[in-house]
Amino acid sequence: MNYAEKKFNLPSLEGISDESVKQHLALYAGYVKNFNAMSAQINELAGIDHEKYAIALGELARRRAFEFDGMRLHEHYFAQLEGGTKEISKGGVLTQMLDKEYRGADNLVSMMKLVASVRGPGWAILYWDREAGQPLSGFVGEQHQGHFVTLPILLALDVWEHAYILDYGASGRGTYIDAFFKNLNWGVVESRFAKLSAPER
Ligand SMILES: [Fe+2]
Repeated sequence: MNYAEKKFNLPSLEGISDESVKQHLALYAGYVKNFNAMSAQINELAGIDHEKYAIALGELARRRAFEFDGMRLHEHYFAQLEGGTKEISKGGVLTQMLDKEYRGADNLVSMMKLVASVRGPGWAILYWDREAGQPLSGFVGEQHQGHFVTLPILLALDVWEHAYILDYGASGRGTYIDAFFKNLNWGVVESRFAKLSAPER
C-alpha cells in the first residue's frame, strides 16, 4: 500500500521564509515518494527470486526505514506549524507535566535549544515514555540514530541544514531554532500529550 503525501495548512511563518518552507516540503515529498518506490521494488524483487536478490533486498530494507523515518518526522514537524503560533495553555496538562519535570515550559525550551544545537544533521526530539510516566529528550542523528525506540513523539525540531541554510546560511542554526519556537503551535503538542497521557482503556 502506498503512503500518501500529507498536505499541511501552513501560514506564513515568522523568520522562516515561504521559499524555505516550500523547498522543505518538497524534500518531505521526496521521502514519501522514495518510501513508496522502495516498497514497490521490495515486493517486485521478492516476488521474482528473493534468494537471487538477497543483497539488493537487504539494502532496500535498510534504506526504506531511513525514508520512513524521514517521512514521519517531517509530518510531526510540519503539523506543529499548522494553525499559526499558539502559546502553551496555562494550567493545562502539558504545563503541569513540564512544571513538574522541567520547572516550567521555558526551561524545557531552553534545554531543547541546547539539544538542537548539537553538531551534525538531525532532530531534537521530546518523547513521552508512557510506561514510566515521564518525558525524555534527545538528539537523533540524521533520521534514525539515537531514537528512544517505541516512544511516541511530543515535539520534533528539524535541525538539518536544509531547514535553515536558505534563510540564515550554514551558521544560522541558532537563529532558525529561535524562529521555530516563535512559530510553534503548542496546541498540537498539547493535543499529542493529552492523547498519550489519558488513562489506557
Ligand atoms: Fe527536514
